[in-house]
Parts: sequence; structure tokens; C-alpha cells
Amino acid sequence: MSVVAAKELEDDAKKYASEAIRLDSQGAHGMAIQMYQKAISTLVKLVHLYPDYRLNRQYTERAMAYQERVKAIQAAHGLLPQDQAPETDWTPQATQGGSAGGNGATSSTANSPKGPQVVQQLKASFNELVITEKPDVKWDDVIGLEDCKMAIRESIVFPFLRPDLFKLGWPRGILLYGPPGCGKTMIAAATAAEIDGYFISVDAASIMSKWLGEGEKNVAKLFNNARKMLADNKPVIVFVDEIDSLLGTRGQEVGGEVRVRDQFLKETDGINDKGKNLHMYVIGATNKPWTLDPPFLRRFGKRIHIPLPDNEARMAQFRLYTAPLTLADDVELTTLAKLSEGYSGSDIKDICQSVQLRVVRELFKSGNALDKDSTTRPITLADFKEIMRTRKPSVSPDMIRAYTQWTNTYSAL
Ligand SMILES: Nc1ncnc2c1ncn2[C@@H]1O[C@H](COP(=O)(O)OP(=O)(O)OP(=O)(O)O)[C@@H](O)[C@H]1O
Ligand SMILES: [Mg+2]
Repeated sequence: MSVVAAKELEDDAKKYASEAIRLDSQGAHGMAIQMYQKAISTLVKLVHLYPDYRLNRQYTERAMAYQERVKAIQAAHGLLPQDQAPETDWTPQATQGGSAGGNGATSSTANSPKGPQVVQQLKASFNELVITEKPDVKWDDVIGLEDCKMAIRESIVFPFLRPDLFKLGWPRGILLYGPPGCGKTMIAAATAAEIDGYFISVDAASIMSKWLGEGEKNVAKLFNNARKMLADNKPVIVFVDEIDSLLGTRGQEVGGEVRVRDQFLKETDGINDKGKNLHMYVIGATNKPWTLDPPFLRRFGKRIHIPLPDNEARMAQFRLYTAPLTLADDVELTTLAKLSEGYSGSDIKDICQSVQLRVVRELFKSGNALDKDSTTRPITLADFKEIMRTRKPSVSPDMIRAYTQWTNTYSAL
């Protein structure tokens, strides 16, 4: 999903909510309700557009909290029957979390018995977004990318097994960069499964979300937790997905990006300095490496390009995704691989899904789908061609050139 688009909606929701709270605290109830409603509809839109977004639970809770507040105002002003009114000691500013965007409406927090409780809930929610369970992805599930696997193995597995051989230490920061949908997140997850250690995963958008408190505190929290886990004498990997979001848009600080960035640099220096045998690693993933500045890049001693799949990898991907499908005789994996040059791994998965949907749709159209013995016709090469005709690669040639150019200057294997 596009973190940037989600962030824009999030920023809008935030703006409406802050405005609502300001109006609310000034007693401008009618206008406050309107603003709360705008905030709610923006949050709802966000959840619908990005159903898999990890922050969705927080957005939903927030939308519900604003809804409650709207009802409370309506009840207090005779717009609702009293018995439908929710408890009225709810204070909206308490849901802001930390100091983010209180907008001058903080004075009544102390009057609210529920206020601190809500803040507490919010603080807990950042930790909830940090996933410490090992993902269920195996090294062998990642198709191709052999150089990348080797580089990761060398930087994490080898030093752990024989730290004595690494007289000059070893890199603790690994940056995976490349076009969307080519396996960055997947390979980080597989690394976790590969090692007997801890894996802490969080996406930078969660760290930066104004709904979850101050970003720099979230960064500190993340690394504190990681350091605690080191006590077990096992490697600890901190994976920050979409790491460019930590830095914000170049030149315009919107939500404390500078402080977050500085905190991040401080924490990563901490790993490199203290004790040579610290087995803590930071893996960052991004599809916008050029937004990272030199000090930030310097912390990532290994910078690994995760490119579009080559012919062989595309063939393996088609093999994987078409395995459960019924194919006509004219479908050759070599042909599919050749036709799909420029498509990413996740594009290929989508193509296979679409092609399957096409024959299922046909069956439903024919009216026979409800007959349990009916089945879809075999998928032909023409089906694949038709889907690829209407579904272009999600990465443009210009983008590929940009990655190649960046790789020539900054890659560090
Ligand atoms: N090398 C690969 N091997 C197997 N599956 C892949 C590979 N690359 C992509 N896929 C498929 O595409 C999906 C998306 O991949 P992934 O989330 O790892 O991409 P990404 O590089 O992290 O993309 P983004 O930059 O958008 O976050 C995977 O869940 C998997 O199904
Ligand atoms: Mg990813």
C-alpha cells in the first residue's frame, strides 16, 4: 500500500480532529460536531482504502471515540434522549496521545478521570504494533535473490557463529532497497526464521503516526525492548519497514521527523559502539532509497538492492502460483516468464489470481457454478496474455533506471 497516500489521509483526519477539539473546548458545539464527523469519515475512508494497514485498529478506535464524543455533545444539548447518552466525562484531547497535537485544549484533562486511562491505552498500542513473533516465511520461499541471501547470511549468521573471526567487527545495519513487490519484506521475515534469535518488526509509519505518541519516544522504546532481549545471548534483529517514512518528505518537517531521525541515529550508534560482540542488527527496507541522507545511509554498512525478478525467478514464481491451477496445454512457464519481463513478484502473483478469477467468472456467468460437479475450464495462454495486456507492470522503466543509478553510487554488498 502507499504509505504516502495513507499518511495524507491520516494528516487530514488529524487536522479535522484537532480542529474539532479546539472548537469543542471553546463551546462551539455545532461546528465541533461537524469537524468530528469529518475526522470520522476520513478515518473510515482510510480503513476502507487500506484494509490491511496495521494501524487500522487504532483508526477505528479513534473514530469510535469521536463518535462517542459527538453523541455526548448531542445528548448534552438535548439532541438525543438522555438515556442514550454515553458517559459524559470523556475528554477528546486525552485521545491525542503524548503531546501530539493537543492544540491548546489540554487544560481539562486533569478533570477527567478517564483521560490518563485513554492515554495509557494509546501508549500500549505502539507496543502492540511491534511484532515480535517469528514470521512464517522460510528462506526457500524467497525466490531468487541469491546474492542478497548470501549477504545477509554473511552479516548476521557468520558473525554470530564465529565472532572471533571478525577482527574489525561487522556491519549492524542492513538496508534492503528496490522496487515495490520484489520481496524486501519477505526476505527480512525469512531472515528471522533462519536465525535462532529475536525478530522485532515495526513499520516506520507506525513509529511516525501522530496517533501513537511522539515518534522519537517510539524509536527509543523499540530499541530499549531490543536491548532487553539481548540478555538472552541470542541475535536480535530490529526490522523497520518503509524506513524512509522516518525521515519525512525532504525539506518539510511535519511531525518531528528531525527528532525521530536523530534518535534513530543515536540508537544505531549505540549498537555499533558498545561492546564488539553485540549481536543486534537493524534491517531497514525502503523503495525510496534516494530520500535517505548520507548520515542515515552511513549507519547501514550493507546496502542491498532487491531488484525485479530475472527470467529464471519469474519462471519460478509462475511455477509456484500456477501450481494449484488447471492449465491448458499451450501454457509454458518459459513463455510466461518471457512475456512478463518488467513485472514484479507481487505483480506475477496478481496476474495468476486475475487469470483464475477470469475462468471462475465465466463459470458463474454460465449459470452452472452452483452445480457442485461443474468446474472451470483450463486456463490458456491467451488468458494470461489478455490479463497482461490490461495489467501493466507496477514499476515503470524510469523507476528501474533510478534504482540502477542509485545502486551504482550507493550500493554496499
Ligand atoms: N522474491 C520473491 N519470492 C517469492 N515471492 C515474492 C518475491 N517477491 C515478491 N513476492 C510476492 O510478492 C509479495 C510482496 O512482496 P514483499 O512484500 O516482500 O515486497 P516488498 O519488496 O517488501 O514491497 P514494498 O516495497 O511494496 O513493501 C510477497 O508476499 C510474495 O507473495
Ligand atoms: Mg515491503
